[in-house]
Amino acid sequence: MTDRYAVIGNPIGHSKSPLIHAEFARQTGQDLCYEALLAPLDGFVATARAFAAAGGRGLNVTVPFKLEAFALADRRSPRAEAAGAVNTLAFGPDGIFGDNTDGAGLVADLTLNLGVPLKNRRVLLAGAGGAARGAILPLLLAGPTSLTIANRTVARAQALAEEQFGQCPAGVMLAACGFDELAGQCFDLVINATAASLADQAPPLPAGIYGAESLAYDMMYGKGLTPFLRQARTQGAGRLADGLGMLVEQAAESFLLWRGVRPSTGEVLRTLRAMTGGA
Ligand code: ATR
Repeated sequence: MTDRYAVIGNPIGHSKSPLIHAEFARQTGQDLCYEALLAPLDGFVATARAFAAAGGRGLNVTVPFKLEAFALADRRSPRAEAAGAVNTLAFGPDGIFGDNTDGAGLVADLTLNLGVPLKNRRVLLAGAGGAARGAILPLLLAGPTSLTIANRTVARAQALAEEQFGQCPAGVMLAACGFDELAGQCFDLVINATAASLADQAPPLPAGIYGAESLAYDMMYGKGLTPFLRQARTQGAGRLADGLGMLVEQAAESFLLWRGVRPSTGEVLRTLRAMTGGA
């Protein structure tokens, strides 16, 4: 019998996940179907449980349900615990397992697709909300020289750094600050995990943080350059990338968890890139 999976969210109509997973299934010869599931804003748990009761094997979880998915899981991976959010659920005979593949997807996109090693690099993470939280543990484990979390509300950045301090490998410097304190510092990689793009804004990063080889990476994506990437280009960043690759790589990590095989991502990423434009 064909195994059923879905992405659940609200709204969900524009999700690219069904296309991505259909391509992964075709490529790996797995017998599965993958649909988009709209849950009412007050009905995530009921919708997810009904899907599982009807034989569903797993769910990807997107806005605004990642915290509820965390609470729904009976067991969670260490990276889901560190993220405080779950984007992947697997339904099995011993209950509901929750994982978070967002940060691993980011690191895979950086290292595999963009060829940017994180080891011994100075990394700046802009933002201290859910998107930033999901990225921190995989970034720390990749062994950068330093990881600086900068946020508009400085206390949020500090709280996030303090919370993750216990997971920080020896030799990696973890710091937190406000955006204006970044003046005079330079980074090899700057990752935008703020929601500023939603208001068509860029986070207020001071000039001088980019070198000629630096990569500016926006977790968001869209048609053309995001406001953050436009700002980075003006400020002299050597390379620009948006989060489309992260989307495909987090999907591949979820597929691996569910099916035990990691699909290759290059072709589906090229297809999506042709559809959306962007960096
Ligand atoms: P998400 O789950 O998408 O990360 P969130 O938890 O609401 O959403 O976090 C949004 C992040 O974007 C926060 O870091 C927020 O900064 P504050 O903590 O100071 O609110 C940041 N953010 C949102 N709009 C911003 C803007 N216009 N400029 C800079 N940072 C912004």
